[in-house]
Amino acid sequence: MSNRVIINADVAKGRINKNIYGHFAEHLGRCIYEGIWVGEDSPIPNTNGIRNDVLEALRGLDIPLLRWPGGCFADEYHWKDGVGPRESRKRMVNTHWGGVVENNHFGTHEFLMLCEMLGCEPYIAGNVGSGTVQEMQEWVEYMTFDGESPMANWRKENGREKPWKVRYFGVGNENWGCGGHMRPEYYADLYRQYQTYVRNYGDNKIYKIACGSNDFNTYWTEVLMREAGRYMDGLSLHYYVVTGPAWENKGSATEFTEREWFTTLQKALKMDEVLTLHSTVMDKYDPEKRVGLIVDEWGTWFDVEPGTNPGFLYQQNTLRDALVASVTFDVFHRHCDRVQMANIAQTVNVLQAMVLTEGEKMVLTPSYHVFEMYKVFQNATALDLNVQSGFYDMDGQSIPSVSATAAKSEDGTICIGLTNLSHNEEAQISVELRGDAGARAYSGRILTSAAKNDRNTFERPDAVKPKPFVQFETAGGVLSAKLPPMSVVVLEAKAQA
Ligand code: AHR
Repeated sequence: MSNRVIINADVAKGRINKNIYGHFAEHLGRCIYEGIWVGEDSPIPNTNGIRNDVLEALRGLDIPLLRWPGGCFADEYHWKDGVGPRESRKRMVNTHWGGVVENNHFGTHEFLMLCEMLGCEPYIAGNVGSGTVQEMQEWVEYMTFDGESPMANWRKENGREKPWKVRYFGVGNENWGCGGHMRPEYYADLYRQYQTYVRNYGDNKIYKIACGSNDFNTYWTEVLMREAGRYMDGLSLHYYVVTGPAWENKGSATEFTEREWFTTLQKALKMDEVLTLHSTVMDKYDPEKRVGLIVDEWGTWFDVEPGTNPGFLYQQNTLRDALVASVTFDVFHRHCDRVQMANIAQTVNVLQAMVLTEGEKMVLTPSYHVFEMYKVFQNATALDLNVQSGFYDMDGQSIPSVSATAAKSEDGTICIGLTNLSHNEEAQISVELRGDAGARAYSGRILTSAAKNDRNTFERPDAVKPKPFVQFETAGGVLSAKLPPMSVVVLEAKAQA
């Protein structure tokens, strides 16, 4: 199969906000507890309670920002329960996720410390569904006010003298569902009210994110933009890749047919249509694109691993998940004029995770490797692209066999992402760089494996990992390459002196 990509290096399409490489960590299953937080007294090596192996792994991704504490958990979280001496913090039931006891040992101070350790921005999701306006106002005051006030004084008593910088604040989560089952008209009014009290203290300027829609529901977007657009900086959107015949039967993360491989990628590519639909509605009310589209939950959602708590959403992660990640990033890059942030669900041990843990063991997933390979696109300038792809057919349906993206990074390197979606066919590809003067030296890495469900396990942690990619030639500004089936390649073309 022959494919052609023309990169117009002299036509910039906009900046790829590094925040689309953001993450999401909820109090759900073993994401926070065990996955990130083990406590200072744990035998698992840790720094101030945060496990060292996970910390080091996440540092390797240059995570720009982390969303917390939910998810559905956000709208039943009362932040005051999670500050002060840990031994006297309230214990509560995590009703959404397995009905387990939440001891609140990981709270505001611990989360903001984690962000400092990762060098990333915090993105806090506030409680609208079961919280009060006052509670939300006081949380912002507690975290960001530098002066004399009840909340700032309490923060100091709890050991933090200086306020933190908190730029991103979400006013509720899925308020059409677990966050209160509201109608958009009702939530739009609540949003207007709650956001009024999300104050900017000193030079801490908050980027306010309203709860947005899910999948293809543009009615919610329409109402929110019409009624509250002027009070928000961002509007969220959730889109999960869920296949399978029913919610109770989403299919296994590891045992799947070729047809399921195809359907999963087909559904991932639909992100393009979803973004176009919502962006078009937003364009109507905000042609200047002032309001960012914030895809603050995305990723694959399969059945939990057999024998694990159904409320913990623990799933393994294969090469298929890795390709979902790469083609989704390609879509985000195409929409970089509107999409200003995205957060993979979720960072550790939940859904499409970067990292899995079992006691003191940790493993990096194939998805992790795509995030690591693609980090060269953070803050790069997306370049105009013409992709002439062959077709990948299955049972009378077709999707492109190749997905591509290209961008120029801040140091002038041209970065190219290529994915061969086919489960069984190689893709011969030519990449033409036009509008670019001077010679370039190419280097690349590839992520692939022999079987479509190959994955990293605690026994074989390096089964799927990136390797140098050398199957290409360059001549006269054209790169010719052969992509193996089921592969993700990232090439870097550095200007030669
Ligand atoms: O990521 C898991 C859940 O999916 C989140 O808590 C919720 O917002 C969404 O429905």
